[in-house]
Amino acid sequence: MNAKIARAGVKAFLILLTGLAVNLGGSLAWAAPPGSAWGANYFPNVELVTQDGKKVRFYDDLIKDKVFAINFIYTRCTDSCPLETAALRKVQKALGDRMGKDVVFYSISIDGDRDKPEELKDYAERFNVGPGWTFLTGRKEDVILLRQKLGMYRSDGQAEKALNEHGISILMGNEQAGQWIKRSPFEETKALVRVLGTRLQTKSAATFTGNHEATRAPAQSTGEALFRSNCEACHSIGNEEGLGPSLQGVTKMRDRAWLARWIKTPDKLLADKDPIAVDLYNRYKKIVMPNLRLSDREVEDLIIYMDASSKVNSMSVTDEALVKTQIN
Ligand code: HEC
Repeated sequence: MNAKIARAGVKAFLILLTGLAVNLGGSLAWAAPPGSAWGANYFPNVELVTQDGKKVRFYDDLIKDKVFAINFIYTRCTDSCPLETAALRKVQKALGDRMGKDVVFYSISIDGDRDKPEELKDYAERFNVGPGWTFLTGRKEDVILLRQKLGMYRSDGQAEKALNEHGISILMGNEQAGQWIKRSPFEETKALVRVLGTRLQTKSAATFTGNHEATRAPAQSTGEALFRSNCEACHSIGNEEGLGPSLQGVTKMRDRAWLARWIKTPDKLLADKDPIAVDLYNRYKKIVMPNLRLSDREVEDLIIYMDASSKVNSMSVTDEALVKTQIN
């Protein structure tokens, strides 16, 4: 018996997307001829273009026989997409050299009119994206069809509205096994790594957890949980610079009211030419801090958390300095 059919049968229960189960169940047995309009009878085999200008077909070249993560972005986006890209970048780092071999990422632009290969290339460079991750663009109607078929299309309204409501999720799958899992980029890196590195893998690797945060205590406060899911992809509260500045000591350095306004509406501060915002923007030219639509309460919880952990971190630095002085 064809191993592919057997696997598809066993794993079909894992298919989480509405509609996909029915279609995939019956169609996995035969592959579509290369270049046909539908791949394995369900996926639009649309033509997309990579950031390097290479033409590819969605089913034949991107997902067939692969384990992958797909998200939809547009390069001018100032809310959720930068966070999504930053979150995926962490997952990519954690997957290490398995990227490009066991797992691939695709970020597909929903703004094909403006996002040409050059824009995508620039975007990928700004986020310092590594191997195994391809940015793609294509004809608008093709990408809409793709999103519909992947269950990642929420709005059929006006263009701008559709852009804003492009849905914040990452679709992960193993095409051959017919397994599909939709997750949020707000989840911790470890959870996404587990799905891509272990759950979706048909071969070996059952124990792979990634070289990242193998063990980590649960968040101790709402602020910490919020920080982990909304901020950590770009910031640390320590010495490291991420895609954004380290937030160590930021609650001391900045005025509280300013900080709250910045975290809530960084885009607005920048538009209003707030001098600190403009200065930050000039220093971190590559990426802008996204407006994550947080509530006042959430912003307050975040500030309390950043303040407390800055204190803890600076205490340990002092302790270390003390120990050193004593040794010397
Ligand atoms: C996609 C990456 C990204 C995410 C996610 C992000 N930031 Fe930022 N953040 C930046 C960048 C980049 C800057 C530098 C200013 C700029 O270029 O807009 C910044 C600046 C800041 C600053 C100003 C630092 C200073 O020196 O005054 C604070 C505070 C801050 N972010 C807090 C947060 C918090 C809190 C969250 C989570 C709710 C968050 N950021 C999420 C990228 C990000």
